[in-house]
Amino acid sequence: MLYHTFKSLVIALALGTNIALAQNSANSLVSRRLTEYLMPAATETHEFARVPDSNFVLLTQMSDSELIKIELDPTTEEPVAFHSFPMGKSSSSELHGVWPSTVYPGMMWLSLQGDNQLLLVDPGQNLSTTPSIIQTIDIPEPGNGPHCVFEIGDRVWAGLKVASEQTGQYYVFSAHVSNPTDYTMYQCLKSPVFIKEEPTTGLIYVTQDSDSSIMRINVTSGETAQLPIPPSVGNNAVGMISAYGPMNGVWFTLAGNATGGTGTFGHIGSSGEMEFFQLQHPLLGTNAGLLHIADASSVAGGPALWLLSTSLLSNNSPDALIRVTFDAGITSVSGEEYISMLTQNAMVHRVLPMDATVLVSELHTFTLAQLTYNNTIAGQWLPAESVSNTTVYTQPG
Ligand SMILES: *[C@@H]1O[C@H](CO)[C@@H](O)[C@H](O)[C@H]1NC(C)=O
Ligand SMILES: *[C@@H]1O[C@H](CO)[C@@H](O)[C@H](O)[C@H]1NC(C)=O
Ligand SMILES: *[C@@H]1O[C@H](CO)[C@@H](O)[C@H](O)[C@H]1NC(C)=O
Ligand SMILES: *[C@@H]1O[C@H](CO)[C@@H](O)[C@H](O)[C@H]1NC(C)=O
Ligand SMILES: *[C@@H]1O[C@H](CO)[C@@H](O)[C@H](O)[C@H]1NC(C)=O
Repeated sequence: MLYHTFKSLVIALALGTNIALAQNSANSLVSRRLTEYLMPAATETHEFARVPDSNFVLLTQMSDSELIKIELDPTTEEPVAFHSFPMGKSSSSELHGVWPSTVYPGMMWLSLQGDNQLLLVDPGQNLSTTPSIIQTIDIPEPGNGPHCVFEIGDRVWAGLKVASEQTGQYYVFSAHVSNPTDYTMYQCLKSPVFIKEEPTTGLIYVTQDSDSSIMRINVTSGETAQLPIPPSVGNNAVGMISAYGPMNGVWFTLAGNATGGTGTFGHIGSSGEMEFFQLQHPLLGTNAGLLHIADASSVAGGPALWLLSTSLLSNNSPDALIRVTFDAGITSVSGEEYISMLTQNAMVHRVLPMDATVLVSELHTFTLAQLTYNNTIAGQWLPAESVSNTTVYTQPG
């Protein structure tokens, strides 16, 4: 309660157009902190999602198929405890995707890439409660290897990352949540990752990483089309979100390749045209391999995105969380805030904004990192450029 009162005060100060006020009032320091929380040691720590209206986050470890249930402090959102649960037939079941259901409030979708299954689970009332399986969907032939799972409207969607044993092709799977025999398999390129709906048109867009293209699906007609990423801007389309309001449309990121990333992300609105944006910061931005993305818009900070640069594909790309803001027409990037991760070469994987903090999963170092602001909010951190002096020093003194 105290925290919420305090948070409102901070927002009120920020909205009062005088950011310096918070900094000047006696004994009150503006700060931002990153904290790393160690999870069980595993070679691949992947996706996570908050269980809606609860203090639990579910995190997947794919290499040993373990589901980590993490309890958050209800006031500060800090992780305070965890419990892990094996999921699937064996430690090779490759638990990967996790997504909250809205059709079944409180339930969570999981994907078992190795078992070729989707699960709907009840995560349980408290930390040590074993998640119970409500529904199992076996991916029908020729589909193989559900990676990320999403619920859009009354359908569950999964990108099938592994080549089909029957056809050698790749597919996107979509089924009615309560009647999985009502399903469609859309053939796509290698390999489907994120699947999102463009809010105005209702068209579905799918990132395909290796073949560097975005597939568009009209679920009414069943027609699909490919929008290849021009190699001149970058490659490897991975992260994608649906955005509403001024940011309306789908936004996606390009992760780059073994030589590094290009700091490029893109937007598709109701016109269906792809437009690209590029980070400008010479050290951390221009080589950024942007793997994942989240909406960072707020009343105080305006339209914004969180972008996650990862060393997953190239150690020429930093592990960094980047917050970008836009001009009024959302036609160009107007601000970039960089938060280098505490551990480089951590191969950061996913970013999730919560009410007042931001969580990042670190694939390679079995860590969950949390970004916290104090006496300010994301979007009000002053960039170093506010007192810029481009002098290049010739002496270290
Ligand atoms: C956050 O700011 C408040 C008010 O200035 C202060 O009491 C508190 O110690 C700060 N917390 C951290 C973690 O810096
Ligand atoms: C855990 O949840 C069960 C109900 O699911 C309840 O009976 C039990 O008391 C809870 N344990 C704790 C420590 O809260
Ligand atoms: C999707 O296909 C249907 C049926 O052909 C068509 O009426 C509709 O306009 C299409 N939607 C879009 C956004 O193109
Ligand atoms: C890697 O990406 C860069 C930038 O798009 C491109 O110029 C280069 O050809 C790519 N390298 C390979 C091996 O695909
Ligand atoms: C920029 O920094 C240099 C070196 O400290 C200093 O000599 C110069 O006066 C500064 N310029 C401005 C405009 O402050």
